[in-house]
Amino acid sequence: MPGKEHKPCVVLGVTGGIAAYKACELLRILQKRGIDVYVVMTQNACRFVTPLTFETLSGHPVAVDTFDRPQTWEVEHIALAKRADLFLIAPATANIIGKMACGIADDMLSTTVMATRAPVMIAPAMNTGMWENEATQHNLRTLASRGVQIVLPASGHLACGDSGAGKLEDVAVIAERALEALGRTRDMEGLRVLVTAGPSREALDPVRYVTNRSSGKMGYAIARAAAQRGAQVTLLTGPVALEAPQGVQVVPFTTTQELLERAQELAAKQDVLIQAAAPADYRAQKVAPQKIKKNSGEPLVLTLVENPDVAAALGRSKRPDQVFVGFAAETNDVLAHAQGKLERKNLDMIVANDVTLPGAGFDVDTNVVTLITRDEAVSLPLMRKDEVADRILDQVLMLVHDR
Ligand code: PMT
Repeated sequence: MPGKEHKPCVVLGVTGGIAAYKACELLRILQKRGIDVYVVMTQNACRFVTPLTFETLSGHPVAVDTFDRPQTWEVEHIALAKRADLFLIAPATANIIGKMACGIADDMLSTTVMATRAPVMIAPAMNTGMWENEATQHNLRTLASRGVQIVLPASGHLACGDSGAGKLEDVAVIAERALEALGRTRDMEGLRVLVTAGPSREALDPVRYVTNRSSGKMGYAIARAAAQRGAQVTLLTGPVALEAPQGVQVVPFTTTQELLERAQELAAKQDVLIQAAAPADYRAQKVAPQKIKKNSGEPLVLTLVENPDVAAALGRSKRPDQVFVGFAAETNDVLAHAQGKLERKNLDMIVANDVTLPGAGFDVDTNVVTLITRDEAVSLPLMRKDEVADRILDQVLMLVHDR
């Protein structure tokens, strides 16, 4: 039975200050970590960044003024308030802080945040004088006493020319706090994770090789997400044109045989192995020592022999405390073939990938997969590979905790 996917939702309130543009980057970071972001803007925020920018980035309509669409605003602000798993206002001006403290609800943002039962977090940004003003500090104490989480502003040179406290905290830090509040951060700390990515290349002669269309994007997204969630990650990568994710140890391979050897050296030390690589199943029986020449129009006959099955070989020495995940790139009978590979390769989960679907599989930034474990199959909709990566890791963590 396909399971239902629930993506955590952040409602991001943007108020009118020069730091409003930084909310775009904040939104992107949250999205990359698998969060669905809906934006509510104040009228003044729209003077700094257009709603269209947030609409395009978030993929959702942006709510601005309660009176824009008189028939729907009441429904809209309640719906948003209910949808939020976290209500985050960044940047939060002295004005919205004051309104929240006093219970004033006179526009879309202030009414929505008042209606929500979700945890509320604010990241203030304002001129130093406004920040230090007793009214602001009093309002902040009031909000803190009601459980509102406050990401304190940094000190520095402000856009208004002053220097001091009031600068919006780094958006990466705000995102980390938001993820913490959602319980989605550093949850892989202490785990050693080996990820394979990219294609293998099997030489035919000194200038030619057999390969496939894997770009490495899927595997790199998994390695990056696992590292961001605190895991100690080794990335075994075939030849790809991608930048290594930060904080990840990269070990290159070229052929399937090399992948097998490197993986066998590393596997015993891992808690989790995720095999997103596309190793070639065949290699030339004999690699020509010199460039193969054309032969007066005669067909060229190449004999290919089977490569080792890396996942199956590793699966044979899997310990009960380890979690092994494979991928299945299929073009027909996807779930049945994937299920077969789950069994044959002694995997705990297989990510079934119908590579015929638009936006799925090789060399695109999105994927459409079904996560198959021994207990269930969860079909995910089309999503970015970084989001798929987080869904896979969520499932992996459940398997790790079941050990
Ligand atoms: O790299 P991208 O462009 O982002 O594309 C992503 C992807 C399509 C490559 C990825 O999502 C994917 O499906 N990877 C698995 C590709 C593959 O080789 O599938 P397979 O069904 O042939 O293999 C099944 C499993 O066995 C895989 O985990 C594979 O890594 C492994 N395998 C395959 C062959 C082999 N000789 N040894 C193996 O270990």
